[in-house]
Amino acid sequence: MLEPRLILILLAVNLVVGVLVTERFQRDDFPVDFVFGSGTSAYQVEGAANEDGRTPSIWDTFAHSVYDHGENGDVACDGYHKYKEDVLLMVETGLEAYRFSISWSRLIPNGRGPVNPKGLQYYNNLINELIRTGIQPHVTLHNFDLPQALEDEYGGWISRDIIRDFTNYADVYFREFGDRVQYWTTVNEANVFALSGYDQGSCPPQRCSPPFCVTNITRGGNSTYEAYLAVHHILLSHSSAVRLYRRKYRDEQHGFVGISVYTLGFIPLTNTEKDRAASQRARDFFIGWIVEPLVHGDYPISMKTNAGARIPAFTNRESEQVKGSYGFIGIIHYNNANVTDNPNALKTELRDFNADMAAQLILLQDLFSEEEYPVTPWSLREELKKFKLHYGNPPIFIHENGQRTGTNSSLQDVSRVKYLHGYIGGVLDALRDGSNIKGYFAWSFLDVFELLAGYKSSFGLYYVDRNDPELKRYPKLSAKWYSRFLKGSIELQKDASLVSVGHLFQ
Ligand SMILES: *[C@@H]1O[C@H](CO)[C@@H](O)[C@H](O)[C@H]1NC(C)=O
Ligand SMILES: *[C@@H]1O[C@H](CO)[C@@H](O)[C@H](O)[C@H]1NC(C)=O
Ligand SMILES: *[C@@H]1O[C@H](CO)[C@@H](O)[C@H](O)[C@H]1NC(C)=O
Ligand SMILES: *[C@@H]1O[C@H](CO)[C@@H](O)[C@H](O)[C@H]1NC(C)=O
Repeated sequence: MLEPRLILILLAVNLVVGVLVTERFQRDDFPVDFVFGSGTSAYQVEGAANEDGRTPSIWDTFAHSVYDHGENGDVACDGYHKYKEDVLLMVETGLEAYRFSISWSRLIPNGRGPVNPKGLQYYNNLINELIRTGIQPHVTLHNFDLPQALEDEYGGWISRDIIRDFTNYADVYFREFGDRVQYWTTVNEANVFALSGYDQGSCPPQRCSPPFCVTNITRGGNSTYEAYLAVHHILLSHSSAVRLYRRKYRDEQHGFVGISVYTLGFIPLTNTEKDRAASQRARDFFIGWIVEPLVHGDYPISMKTNAGARIPAFTNRESEQVKGSYGFIGIIHYNNANVTDNPNALKTELRDFNADMAAQLILLQDLFSEEEYPVTPWSLREELKKFKLHYGNPPIFIHENGQRTGTNSSLQDVSRVKYLHGYIGGVLDALRDGSNIKGYFAWSFLDVFELLAGYKSSFGLYYVDRNDPELKRYPKLSAKWYSRFLKGSIELQKDASLVSVGHLFQ
């Protein structure tokens, strides 16, 4: 029998150990079926823009008109020719999954009609190489890069014609690759794609109308409703692809089809009821816009109230098709915004998304700059709690998260290590809160062509030497750190501010 005093001592030891255990974590603390990976996208990494039958996407057109001086994806990281070498780097890093996108205009030049055999071969090669080396492919169908031909023919995403063409495109994917690919994302960052392309005009297809345009180069459009229309067609296309998958492929392929959404940490500027309500409204507008139709079959009430007839209505049939049409939701998260109430915005007759939101978002970092992001994993954890609370706790992949720095040959990206370290810890906290998170992808695997800042800003675990004709890749400190974490050879401190990276320099 134990002496009572000894029992007390044992209890005390246990408590201390208990606290220490929660303060440190490692790969094994995540569920066994949780995957860690990294990502890129077609236009940002492949290059070979005019090779083997590929035709331009709206990003090729845009990059050639705006990013002069070679700032475009014509060559990018030449992933089209270097995929084997890159998969080898993924193996060395210990990636469990790789997230990439397929170029629609490479697989089906002109957007519809016959499949390009060379494009098919390339993606088969890449997927086979990943499978062979035990890396799970996670594939996106549309990453900002609609075929230019469909934009020219009928206005791309603002026409209902897109639903038919997107569904046929998805059919090719599922048919050709579905025996090896289980995770499909239909449209990446549907919210940002629509806002930048159809409201502000800052990204292709650069549609907008005054006074909402942030650029002088525009191609027609109407900011008051086109972003709403584009997202409506994205949701209908997405759900149509999901329906097709469920009817024709799911029983055999057992995969999951999801969509991804760009999120910010929405933080009330002041602790007042007005700013708290404004933050929730901002969340409705940015996230609920995409996610509520999938979960509840309709847009958030705040959006319908403030946008009125400018936001399209779902018919009963459409609503039924959209509702429940997801196997997971992908989350893109980098940064926070302080949100403040802006009721005056609703007094203007001519309104766009931002005015309808009646809230002002204050971002500390400029979207187009090379400034680093602060490390605030608690804000991601809070947003994940909202998914649990408001959207029925859907299965979630953190599709993108990573630190931005300027591009240079310094491989000592300590700030990236601290960022990834902090947010991976935040994801573990969120899992322990009961959030249904299935995986985490660090953006980006290589220093790719960044859609907002070209090659000036970088997020890569690997530096790509753009002065070297061979575009040689070099592991940064973050690649080595991620590798050690994935291989289970380091235990991390929970509080990222305490992180020491000294041991990695040895
Ligand atoms: C648009 O053009 C006007 C006149 O050329 C110029 O003053 C303004 O700065 C430009 N705006 C942007 C956003 O480029
Ligand atoms: C845009 O649409 C609104 C209606 O939502 C209309 O009042 C406005 O005149 C249109 N603007 C342009 C530039 O076509
Ligand atoms: C948000 O406000 C807090 C103070 O309330 C400030 O410390 C922080 O820098 C602000 N963040 C942004 C993104 O503006
Ligand atoms: C150079 O890269 C390092 C590591 O990636 C980064 O910390 C630093 O801010 C960059 N410097 C410039 C001038 O961009």
